[in-house]
Amino acid sequence: MLNLPPVNYTSPEIHAADAERIFGRTWQLLGPASRLDERGAYVATEIAGRKVFAIRTREGLRAFRNVCRHRGARLLPEGTGRCATIRCPYHQWVWNEDGTLLNVPFWGDDPDFDMAAWRLDEIALEVWRGLLFVAIAPEGPLAAQLGAVQAELEGEPIERYRWMREERLVFDANWKIYTDNFVEGYHIPGIHPAFHRAIEFDRFETTAHDGMVRMSAPPREGLFYRGKWLWMWPNWTLSLFAGGMNTSRINPVDHRRTELIYNFYFEDLSPETEAAREKTIADNLAVVREDFEVCLATQQNYESGGYRPGPLSPRHERGVAYFQDKLREAGAVQANMSPTA
Ligand code: FES
Ligand SMILES: [Fe+2]
Repeated sequence: MLNLPPVNYTSPEIHAADAERIFGRTWQLLGPASRLDERGAYVATEIAGRKVFAIRTREGLRAFRNVCRHRGARLLPEGTGRCATIRCPYHQWVWNEDGTLLNVPFWGDDPDFDMAAWRLDEIALEVWRGLLFVAIAPEGPLAAQLGAVQAELEGEPIERYRWMREERLVFDANWKIYTDNFVEGYHIPGIHPAFHRAIEFDRFETTAHDGMVRMSAPPREGLFYRGKWLWMWPNWTLSLFAGGMNTSRINPVDHRRTELIYNFYFEDLSPETEAAREKTIADNLAVVREDFEVCLATQQNYESGGYRPGPLSPRHERGVAYFQDKLREAGAVQANMSPTA
């Protein structure tokens, strides 16, 4: 099988289609539900440019577009916070946490104005084993998208792992270039020499089915990873540590810029383990950053027209082939070699 034609990583039009067909229709991981334990606690973020937020209400968690119904301003600032009501910063319309419009200040006399007609736009929300997912226009339930990861993590006490920190990393490459990179271990000897020494690379294995790419290798002594790395369609990952895990969401900022939103979780958050946890996070992020340069240079080669699709390794790039097949299934792949072909 050949790699995808480079236009799929460089075209703003294809990116707009990705944003609509993939990011607009799939469940997106927003991190741990435990961060929204208190009433009014919210997390506001973007899904391929679309602003959304999730909030803890009296009746449970709800999610909405982070878009004012009046003239479209952003309602809540990006990140996490707590609010009693949702007040638009622009003209100060106020909604309550379940999306009902409460107050329209300075509006003027208007007997026909119907408050009930201007609820916030709600989106879908589900929690799976302590992880919070939202979807703008889902094609099915979360479980259908999760697929194989559910059985894969059955014996893993992930809901016992407590959230420690979120980290956001941004780099200049298309989200699919980064995903192609994440779902193969082929580049480990070349790009991650220290990581390579810390695993039995000869025994590195990749399988791909039912929405999940699973990579594993026996770790040698001293490696913080437990030797299992999972990627789930379309854009989230989960890796196990000793006594913890990380999750990440691979989120496109635009067609040539991507953010990774990492969350770190540990079973034991006591002060005695703090130094070890900090080291795990630092070592983990160092490995993640080692991929940015190669992704950036690949992006530049795809953009320059200097690349024609090459072959994928049947042993090590099975995950890449699987991801690219999923893109084809989603109708998100252009077969032409270049935008002008
Ligand atoms: S845009 Fe929000 S109140 Fe006007
Ligand atoms: Fe890597």
